[in-house]
Amino acid sequence: MVKKIKLAVIGSPISHSRSPEIHQEFADQAGIDIEFSKVELSKSNLDDWVHSFFLDGGKGLSVTLPFKEDCLSLADEISDRAEITKAINVLFNSKGKILGDCTDGVGLVKDLTINKNQSIKEKSILVIGAGGASRGILPSLLEEAPKSVVVANRTVEKAERIAKEFSSKASQTSKSSNLIASSLSFEALKDFEFDVVINATSVSTNPSQNLNLDESVFRNTSLALDLYYSQAFTPFMDLADRAKVPTVIDGWGMLVEQAAESFLLWTGFKPDTAELIAKHGE
Ligand code: ATR
Repeated sequence: MVKKIKLAVIGSPISHSRSPEIHQEFADQAGIDIEFSKVELSKSNLDDWVHSFFLDGGKGLSVTLPFKEDCLSLADEISDRAEITKAINVLFNSKGKILGDCTDGVGLVKDLTINKNQSIKEKSILVIGAGGASRGILPSLLEEAPKSVVVANRTVEKAERIAKEFSSKASQTSKSSNLIASSLSFEALKDFEFDVVINATSVSTNPSQNLNLDESVFRNTSLALDLYYSQAFTPFMDLADRAKVPTVIDGWGMLVEQAAESFLLWTGFKPDTAELIAKHGE
C-alpha cells in the first residue's frame, strides 16, 4: 500500500482554517493520497510538536498566525525569500532537514496581478500592520515596483522598524527609482492618499477587536484588500465598501495561491487554482 503524505496546518486559533480542504483538492488533482490535519499549538509546545511531527515522518506544515516569526528559529535552513521576510508560512522535510520558506508574498502578487487583473506597478500602497503578515508580503510588493509603500501600525515604533528594514532592501533590489517605504501612525494617515490599502493586522481574526481606522483613508483608493479571508465582509472591508472603493477583496485568493506554492514544495506538483478561487465562500 502506498503511504499517505502526512501534512498539517499549525496556528492559534486554527478551527476556521480551510487549508485542509484546499490541499485535499490539490491532492485530488495530483492523484496523491494525503492526510492533512489542523493543529492548534501554543508558543510553549510549538518547537517540540514540530520536531516530533517531522521525526514521525511528516512531510510538510503550513504555518499560520501567530507562529510565522517563531518558526524561523526552529527550521534547519531557510530560503532566501524567508530570510528577507523573516517570516515563514511553510516548513517541509528535505532529506531529513527541516526547511522553511515564505510563499505568502508570491501568493498575494499572483492573486492580484493574474486572478484579479490589478497592477501594483506605480501605485501608492498602504500596508496596515507591522507583524509577520506584513513582513511576508512586503518584499514581493516592492518587487512589483510600486510608486510608494507606507507601513502604518498601532504601535508606530514597529512600523518604523519594518519600514526602515525594507526600504534599505528596496533600494538594493527595486526596479523603481522613486520607491520609498516609510512609516506612519494611524493619526497621520489622514494627510495622505493611497491607491491600494491592505489590512495586514490580525484584527479581522478577532470579532471583538476594532481597527479604529478612519474612512477617509480610502478617499482615493481603487483597491482594498483584507489579508484575512471570510465568507462575510470583515469590518475593514465594510468600511472600504462604505467609502465606495471599487474593488474590495479578502485574502481567499492569496490563501489558495500561497497554498499552491506550498503544495509544489511538498509534492513537486503544481496545482491549478482557478476552480478553487472561483468557489470562494462555498
Ligand atoms: P501577524 O503574524 O498576523 O502579523 P502579529 O505579528 O501578532 O501577527 O502582528 C499583529 C499585527 O496586528 C500588529 O501589527 C498589531 O499591531 P501592534 O504592533 O500595535 O500590536 C496589529 N493589531 C492587532 N490588533 C490590533 C488592533 N486592535 N488595532 C490595531 N492593530 C492591531
